[in-house]
Amino acid sequence: MAAKKNSTSTQKSSTKKPSTTKASTKKPAPAKSAAGPTVPAWHVAPDKTKAWKKLTALSKTGNLMTGKSMDLRKAFAKDKSRGTKFAVEALGIHLDYSKNLIDGATMDALFALATECGVAKHMKAMFAGDAINVTENRAVLHTALRAPKNAVIKVDGKNIVPDVHEVLARMEKFANAVRSGAWRGHTGKRIRTVVNIGIGGSDLGPVMAYEALKDFTERSIDCRYVSNIDGEDFYEKTRDLDPEETLFVVSSKTFTTIETMTNAQTARAWSLKKLKDPAAVAKHFVAVSTNAAEVAKFGIDTANMFGFWDWVGGRYSMDSAIGLSTMVAVGPDNFREMLAGFHDMDEHFRTAPARKNLPYLLALIGIWNRDFLGCETVAVLPYCQYLHRLSAYFQQLEMESNGKRVQLDGSPCRWQTSPVIWGEPGTNGQHAFYQMIHQGTSPVPCDLIAFAQPLHAVGSEAAGEHHDILLANIFAQGEALAFGKTPAEVRAEGTPEWLVPHRTFTGNRPTNTMLIEKLSPRMLGRIIALYEHKVFVQGSIWRVNSFDQWGVELGKVLAKRIIPELSGAKPAKTAHDSSTNALIAKYRALRGR
Ligand code: F6P
Repeated sequence: MAAKKNSTSTQKSSTKKPSTTKASTKKPAPAKSAAGPTVPAWHVAPDKTKAWKKLTALSKTGNLMTGKSMDLRKAFAKDKSRGTKFAVEALGIHLDYSKNLIDGATMDALFALATECGVAKHMKAMFAGDAINVTENRAVLHTALRAPKNAVIKVDGKNIVPDVHEVLARMEKFANAVRSGAWRGHTGKRIRTVVNIGIGGSDLGPVMAYEALKDFTERSIDCRYVSNIDGEDFYEKTRDLDPEETLFVVSSKTFTTIETMTNAQTARAWSLKKLKDPAAVAKHFVAVSTNAAEVAKFGIDTANMFGFWDWVGGRYSMDSAIGLSTMVAVGPDNFREMLAGFHDMDEHFRTAPARKNLPYLLALIGIWNRDFLGCETVAVLPYCQYLHRLSAYFQQLEMESNGKRVQLDGSPCRWQTSPVIWGEPGTNGQHAFYQMIHQGTSPVPCDLIAFAQPLHAVGSEAAGEHHDILLANIFAQGEALAFGKTPAEVRAEGTPEWLVPHRTFTGNRPTNTMLIEKLSPRMLGRIIALYEHKVFVQGSIWRVNSFDQWGVELGKVLAKRIIPELSGAKPAKTAHDSSTNALIAKYRALRGR
């Protein structure tokens, strides 16, 4: 967007008509000019649009927090086709958004908002490789990771697609070797456990995908994920492992992240304690990084390094080499299917009209809930045990991307940005926190996600099929949240008057329901890309940089300063505030230092 455009790239898909887009090549230096990057005139601030004013007016009459007039019971009674009118089907995903506090006028204004804010132009700029990550002066091209071989996407005048496929081919060779037993440990034993060491985007995607696709994994190879600097994580994940049969994948975009580097050093020492010979590192450690120099410094042969690029953000990298452990687990064919799923959704996002476009719809309803109805959190509730790490993954995707308080030009946002994302799989959540979702004082919009076909039809004659019971629950939750139970209905059940308020449900609590054909590697790719693009549309409207994460830096710097003060390597400073000083002193005393 702020990039100077000085070359052209063509992005082709093997199945769809090629789209020709202008590409940026030479990136503008972000901070060299005192004024910083220029935000294009088409990238209008949301509150400067006519649509924003219209939405503000609409929210006064339809506001869950302050108004009474938007009532889902009435809306459904008035329009018998509402349940199908506000629903869209694409790529095997049925999205029913009818149980939100919206009507035709709201949706019209939301689509107008996207148009006025230049979302389509911004999207084109992203797909074209413009340096839309303006604070880091980088292109944002995770979509290139799943582009077909014949696509042409240029960065600095160079087609990057062959590089992507070259790394994929190397990953494939490696994954096949580990899976078949051709890759052996230093002492000739087969690899039985792959331990991914990484954190944030170098962990959450791989773990989530490993859990989501468990049914597609090679069960004779176990994958484990060490992320936390807390030594208990490393201890628990390795305590029953044999170094002779264990392979570590050290995953870090920068290869400087303290958690990952510390865990990797500990893993090296753990391996060599038994294997003795430093040459064993070559057989038990591989690296995934953009930083070859640091990989070599660590002692991993760069022949055993799988690269990616600075135009892939950490939280958008599970389909890059960061997915190496996923590929070992599910095999190259399934991994490629997952990439094809991502690409399906990229094409849908790029080509489908906004009103039929899944990422647009999720994003716009999210903006309505966040900015106009005042909802501060969103619960992601998959009715699928395999997706039990999905909301943790979406937490980073959404909150690290859009948890920003300033606009692209550095001026403060005059509107709300990322909500808190949280959630657990249904039905477990129902027995824990749904009480608050049904009857609490803060509305929590929910994404209810379920698959029509189970991977395993478990059940018995006596108990019935589990899947029917599971799906009955997700449908019931949507119903209960939308329509509630009136005091009159509660009274009609013979409830004593004093108990009526406790047993009343207000309803009008917004939900999206996604009923998806069946969980598969391809479908997982589609779901993740759906949310990636939802985040893009929202960030675009909020006019924030969804692709940097400066907010994580300060804590890292301060921790580095404190480390030697805890270990006793340095005398405890008194340069901190009185609270931090006292905590450090207390810790040292408790540890006898
Ligand atoms: O600290 C935040 C972060 O930079 C994330 O954006 C990233 O996914 C994570 O740390 C891990 O970074 P790396 O892959 O460079 O180790």
